[in-house]
Amino acid sequence: MSKDQEELAWKMASQSVSTEEIGLLISARLLQEAEDAPTRLCLATAVSDEAKHCEVFARFSISCGGFIEKPAQYADNLRNAPPKVQTNFCCFTLERFPTT
Ligand SMILES: [Fe+2]
Repeated sequence: MSKDQEELAWKMASQSVSTEEIGLLISARLLQEAEDAPTRLCLATAVSDEAKHCEVFARFSISCGGFIEKPAQYADNLRNAPPKVQTNFCCFTLERFPTT
């Protein structure tokens, strides 16, 4: 891998740490609002999965660049947004990019 490719991989992995963390936070908030057991179990699994993804990207970032690059402004804004804004963003994304 060239130096440029390695730097790009580090930057992408660093940003993915933030993205996965946001996914974890939104899943956790939706979990608190879930009204039935199957939905709660599904969202609990999502929280666990996002935490694992976050850790993998963090380890990769540190192994490539020595540290995790500061998140882009959009990720910082979304992470610090009120829960209702985060949940609306998540629902909008699910409507636009359905997984089934
Ligand atoms: Fe993920």
